[in-house]
Amino acid sequence: MTRKVIVTGGCGYIGSHVARAFKQQGNQVILIDREYRQHAMKGLDGFVANDYASPVALSTIIMHEPDVIVHCAGTSLVGPSIANPADYYDNNVAKTIAMLNVIKDMPKKPVILFSSSASVYGEPETWPVTESSGFNPISPYGRTKFMIEKILQDYFVGYGISSICFRYFNAAGAEPFNHDLGQEPGATHIIARALEASISDSVFTINGGLYPTGDGTCVRDYIHVWDLADAHLQAASFLLDDYPQSGSYAFNLGTETGISNLEIVEYIKRKHGIRYQIGPKRDGDPAELVASAALAKEVLGWQPQYSDIDTIVDSAYKWYTR
Ligand SMILES: NC(=O)c1ccc[n+]([C@@H]2O[C@H](COP(=O)([O-])OP(=O)(O)OC[C@H]3O[C@@H](n4cnc5c(N)ncnc54)[C@H](O)[C@@H]3O)[C@@H](O)[C@H]2O)c1
Repeated sequence: MTRKVIVTGGCGYIGSHVARAFKQQGNQVILIDREYRQHAMKGLDGFVANDYASPVALSTIIMHEPDVIVHCAGTSLVGPSIANPADYYDNNVAKTIAMLNVIKDMPKKPVILFSSSASVYGEPETWPVTESSGFNPISPYGRTKFMIEKILQDYFVGYGISSICFRYFNAAGAEPFNHDLGQEPGATHIIARALEASISDSVFTINGGLYPTGDGTCVRDYIHVWDLADAHLQAASFLLDDYPQSGSYAFNLGTETGISNLEIVEYIKRKHGIRYQIGPKRDGDPAELVASAALAKEVLGWQPQYSDIDTIVDSAYKWYTR
């Protein structure tokens, strides 16, 4: 069945992949983003070049009557959120409320698939992290995600808006078939930075080598962006076909497997060459962060297929060098 899908932040890294995946399924897809990236638009049905809480974006939502809104738009860097929390609470929380207040009055309410984050857990002390591990976001950024999750729960109870919050762990990789979507240059994630260092032949610095992990470097759970996109397709079917109007849910999206910073850099060294050093650790980086994804697998039938290190690094490398 063809569905109407709006993706806020659809020109961004994750939003562009989710939009592509919905389009490939035969749906009608419109993006809302305050930045325009032409490659994100391939084959899509429309673009609103504006803030997602602007009058033009909100009236597009009302007039288009989407079945699904994938809400990826947001600002998402931990450091800047500490330096400038006003911007984060405004762009992430206040504008989401403005959008939801329009949606709550629509006769046919779309379901919301919200880009939440593992940052809602803060620095968990045990792994893998389950959805009931307890919330302790340690930055304004993490707190904006936590707040929006709670708001979505309340808006289901009060107004019947169904939603799924996806707590992404570390999104990585690039569109694995044509390599024509990926992270923009200058991204802050380690795989992006290490590949850019490899390609430009500059020295890459690993942050910290004395963590209580197998090789002393931080361990993270990398989830391929195409697997994230697939989870959104499953979520739309779950909320629209299987259990309509059923609730507000939250799922971790990760692989249940940790990869260390050193393993990533050594992999890149073997495949493409890289010069690297181990520098001091960064404040606020937990030693290990690995998801339990059992709930998403059980409830949504989701299964990551592209999240091995070879596919993640190789797809990203092809995107950067395309
Ligand atoms: N990348 C990750 O590993 C990761 C992990 C956890 C959560 N997330 C969340 O997923 C979402 C997408 O992340 P991403 O990595 O694709 O980020 P991104 O920065 O690549 O994309 C975000 C997009 O949103 C747009 N945007 C921001 N504010 C907007 C506004 N007010 N109106 C319209 N457009 C706006 C930006 O222009 C950008 O294109 C974010 O909400 C982020 O917090 C990402």
